[in-house]
Amino acid sequence: MQSALQPNERATLETLTGIRHWAPGLYSFTTTRPPDYRFIAGQYARLGLHNAVGNVVWRAYSIVSATSATHLEYYVIDVPGGAFTSTLQRLVPGDTILLDRQTHGAMTPDRFADGEDLWMLSTGTGLGPFIAILREPMVWQRFRQLLVVHSTRTAKEFSYQDELLEAERQYANAPARLRILRTSTRDDVEPAHASHLRGRITTLLTNGELERHAGLSLQAENSRVMLCGNPAMTDEMRELLKQRGLRPCRRDMPGQYVAENYW
Ligand SMILES: Cc1cc2nc3c(=O)[nH]c(=O)nc-3n(C[C@H](O)[C@H](O)[C@H](O)COP(=O)(O)OP(=O)(O)OC[C@H]3O[C@@H](n4cnc5c(N)ncnc54)[C@H](O)[C@@H]3O)c2cc1C
Ligand SMILES: NC(=O)c1ccc[n+]([C@@H]2O[C@H](COP(=O)([O-])OP(=O)(O)OC[C@H]3O[C@@H](n4cnc5c(N)ncnc54)[C@H](OP(=O)(O)O)[C@@H]3O)[C@@H](O)[C@H]2O)c1
Repeated sequence: MQSALQPNERATLETLTGIRHWAPGLYSFTTTRPPDYRFIAGQYARLGLHNAVGNVVWRAYSIVSATSATHLEYYVIDVPGGAFTSTLQRLVPGDTILLDRQTHGAMTPDRFADGEDLWMLSTGTGLGPFIAILREPMVWQRFRQLLVVHSTRTAKEFSYQDELLEAERQYANAPARLRILRTSTRDDVEPAHASHLRGRITTLLTNGELERHAGLSLQAENSRVMLCGNPAMTDEMRELLKQRGLRPCRRDMPGQYVAENYW
């Protein structure tokens, strides 16, 4: 029999409290949260589980819950044969998981010293940190436009649609307006809704469709950009942004974009 997971001075033992399935192999789960646990929306933490041979494996996961929530939430896709997700997919509420106390990541809205429009461009589970950011009242005061773009292989994987609509309602009187664009890349059928596009984010930016549907232009003066998910997407987007005169945020120098790669 496998030994129980052991907390230590760096990691606490948390309990799985709920699972929400979006599509086969794609789900969000919630856990308990240590009372003294602090993070900034947009950050990630390492979670630990036993792999198939009983060793503890650690993987990074963006935190999706609001900083004020009493629970923690994560948004995950199963990787076939993956050491961590092969165990994670079998957990049920009541099971335990290790949480590294230390949070990491610099893809946070406070990186931008100025700018009016926040573009949050994601592939797959890279949407997660943007949900956390939109759950912070501050961003609705700080920006004029909040644009979320979610690219998935199929429309079945579009997630958090109700939450985003609810956020729009909740902040109806805030200075910021939210625009959500979803794009699928491998569907055979034509999109049923005007906010559902077809094609990669990079293609949609290059051919002008992204800005046309957003009703905004992406330029260095007002636009601030966050990129999250597939590293090939973030690499290609960096090049496209540089061509438009945007520069990366550096520790000692303000910029116009930040990115988080998931592998
Ligand atoms: C900063 C950071 C934040 C992350 N946040 C999340 C998150 O919020 N949700 C999440 O599902 N994963 C996230 N990941 C990826 C996560 O850490 C694991 O790598 C992933 O869950 C697979 O773990 P595994 O051990 O099952 O598979 P592994 O054996 O580690 O398989 C790794 C391979 O699976 C693929 N892969 C890994 N993650 C993803 C993904 N998210 N989407 C599509 N393909 C992927 C890549 O091809 C990668 O090379 C994050 C990674 C980093 C570095
Ligand atoms: N998607 C599923 O139905 C599903 C279900 C369970 C498990 N999995 C596993 O999850 C992993 C893949 O997950 P995923 O589909 O969320 O991630 P993904 O392969 O990164 O695809 C997510 C989105 O990113 C786009 N993309 C990829 N490379 C890009 C680039 N260079 N520039 C711009 N956009 C780019 C994809 O477009 P393209 O389609 O054009 O590549 C897709 O729209 C695999 O291990 C898979 O086996 C997938």
